[in-house]
Amino acid sequence: MLDQLNSIEKESLAALESVREAVALEQWRVTHLGRSAPLSNILGDLGKLSKAERPAIGKRGNEVKRALEEALAAKAEALRRAEMENAITAGAVDVTLPGRSLPTGRLHPMTQTLRQLYAVWAAMGFQVYRSREVESDEYNFELLNIPKHHPARDMQDTFYTTTPDVILRTHTSPGQIRVMREFAPEPVRVVLPGMCYRYEQITPRADIQFWQMEGLAVGKHVTMANLKATLSDFARRMFGQQVRTRFRSDHFPFTEPSAEMDVECFLCGGAGCRVCKHSGWLEILGCGMVHPTVLKNGGYDPSVHSGFAFGMGPQRITMLMHKIEDIRYFLANDLRFLEQF
Ligand code: DAH
Repeated sequence: MLDQLNSIEKESLAALESVREAVALEQWRVTHLGRSAPLSNILGDLGKLSKAERPAIGKRGNEVKRALEEALAAKAEALRRAEMENAITAGAVDVTLPGRSLPTGRLHPMTQTLRQLYAVWAAMGFQVYRSREVESDEYNFELLNIPKHHPARDMQDTFYTTTPDVILRTHTSPGQIRVMREFAPEPVRVVLPGMCYRYEQITPRADIQFWQMEGLAVGKHVTMANLKATLSDFARRMFGQQVRTRFRSDHFPFTEPSAEMDVECFLCGGAGCRVCKHSGWLEILGCGMVHPTVLKNGGYDPSVHSGFAFGMGPQRITMLMHKIEDIRYFLANDLRFLEQF
């Protein structure tokens, strides 16, 4: 009988070796430690043995039982651990794999130029002021000293609405009047960026909807020399310290005197190229001393106050900087264009 117990132990442990998962382990438990297992039968029948045999067989039988139970517990623990390790490996992140790159957006080229302009003007003490895109005839023309017969008022240029007197602004200049009326008689230094609209032929150089950026400085001692110094400084900050500027006389109804500012072509350094049409100069903005009538309309006394103003096309500046050949790209939403910036 001792031999039988020895072989039960040996065979049971051998059978346990090949158990690989929980269901098989439970089967093994029923077979080898269950109520009708050979070992249980022997232990259950101890009473039938002779007094001489009983202690040795009982002792050995319990030893075998404990050995099997311990082996079972160890196996259960091993299986549990293996299962957990599998789960961890299966869900693991391979940190050596290259990541999937996410498509990133980028700022529209106009947003980039505008932010650059804001930064330059802010550094020179100018605040950004937002003015409305829908204007009245009075603000867009009349108060800016644009007389009734002026070509800018022509049906060809202006988007009129079905509401009398309500138009889309054709330039950012009406914002000048709104700023002056809000702050007079205090000195002001502002830039007014925004969208403008003109009812005209769409070409590579002109769209019916476009950005402008107006500037206005009003104070007690603002002179033409201040205008030239400020705008030249702006050009150097925007296009490079070595860039030269020149002013050419011009005419605008809302400024007197008026001028155009050119900057030395920053693409060829003034030597002459296709972009500057071999002149070496790029036309950047219109400017002038605020007309006394306009100052008065804004609520300032022209005998006490003076001011300068300027207006530029940020799209034109962007086109020059990046050699963009068609203004229509800006609002076409074509990724092939936008992804280049
Ligand atoms: N408003 C003008 C335009 O749309 C641009 C301009 C020129 C604005 C001279 C100004 C200025 O403030 O002084 O063409």
